[in-house]
Amino acid sequence: MGWGKCVPEKVLTNDDLAAMVDTSDEWIVERTGIRQRHVVGEGQATTALALGAAREALERADADPREVELIIVATLTPDHPMPATACQVQNALGATRAGAFDLNAGCSGFVYALAMGEAAIAAGTYRTVLVIGADTMSTVVDWQDRSTAVLFGDGAGAVLLQATLEEHGVLATLLGSDGAGDELLMIPAGGSAQRASHDTVAAGLHHVQMNGRQVYRFAARMLPEATEVVVRDAGLTLDAVDWIIPHQANARIIEAAAQRLQLPLERFVINVDAYGNTSAASVPIALCEAADDGRIQPGQHLVLVGFGAGLTWAAAVLRWPTAAPEAQRAALHRIWRAWLYRWAALRTGLWRGLSRLTIWLGRLKQRGRRGG
Ligand code: COA
Repeated sequence: MGWGKCVPEKVLTNDDLAAMVDTSDEWIVERTGIRQRHVVGEGQATTALALGAAREALERADADPREVELIIVATLTPDHPMPATACQVQNALGATRAGAFDLNAGCSGFVYALAMGEAAIAAGTYRTVLVIGADTMSTVVDWQDRSTAVLFGDGAGAVLLQATLEEHGVLATLLGSDGAGDELLMIPAGGSAQRASHDTVAAGLHHVQMNGRQVYRFAARMLPEATEVVVRDAGLTLDAVDWIIPHQANARIIEAAAQRLQLPLERFVINVDAYGNTSAASVPIALCEAADDGRIQPGQHLVLVGFGAGLTWAAAVLRWPTAAPEAQRAALHRIWRAWLYRWAALRTGLWRGLSRLTIWLGRLKQRGRRGG
């Protein structure tokens, strides 16, 4: 198993936001626990972040991109409505043997994708699955709307799942949905229900719209409920859980969940202060940070739990693996991967150049025929 994360360099602090809309650092920290968020720059799309996280996960697992058989990108901010962002990631990794698709389950997306990846491996159909949660929420929030603009950030996190006979990995998963709550958190326009038009743009219908209070109530209820159920399904009790890694939407929601579960807050991984709500990326980013700084130890039990648009919720229990790749092999493999990424970029450039040239020559021929 490997893990990786990627966030844009640019940081937007609460004070930066206070210069843009009528808000304050004090209000944001008190109501949400958020102090700053990372946001993409002009021209930086979701694929760039997903790719950064994916490469780090492959590095960590010392895996060859060509071993990957399936790539799932959980996102609600794909680069384009089509094709899937996962296909861009697949291509840039040189993962030539992988199928790739996007999955949209809002902020629960990563845990949904993890459940799908685990099921694909458990069924015996695939051996190596790359699961990514990536979102650029800064591209869909209305920067004039203080009730949503202060909450979100951009980022990506990834895990590489590999079939194993050892007793670690995903022990249980739980997925849930209640579409009756669709209007509580949505981007109304740009899909088939409200096609993109001048009017929808003028009305701001391509931005996130949210009923904060109702979403808060839903989250504060679902987070502990889903945790309790998935832990029971894994055959464990809450006492046996070392870390709960919840969706990072609001520190108050996490505190309320800790209270309901009667667990100390120290057992929760919380980093919403540094990243804000990065949607599908929030759980894997928190997972990566806790794994990187040594909080998560081999053999420990983790609960990953998310909630979000749909409405959706999802939870998973993991037993953290032990193996670390051999250093010398890893150095050679690193060179191989770097070469593969360069080749993938070169091949893409050639492919696109050639296909544009073919189209241009075709048009020229047509014009010539018409002229003749
Ligand atoms: N800065 C300053 N004031 C703000 C503000 C901001 N950024 N956003 C809202 N306010 C104001 C409101 O206008 C309101 O003013 P009023 O009393 O004069 O009408 C007041 O603060 C209280 O607003 P309210 O919406 O009741 O605040 P709240 O305590 O419910 O906190 C959220 C708002 C959004 C932080 C909270 O509801 C929340 O976290 N909800 C869940 C959101 C979430 O998790 N979404 C993602 C799910 S994946």
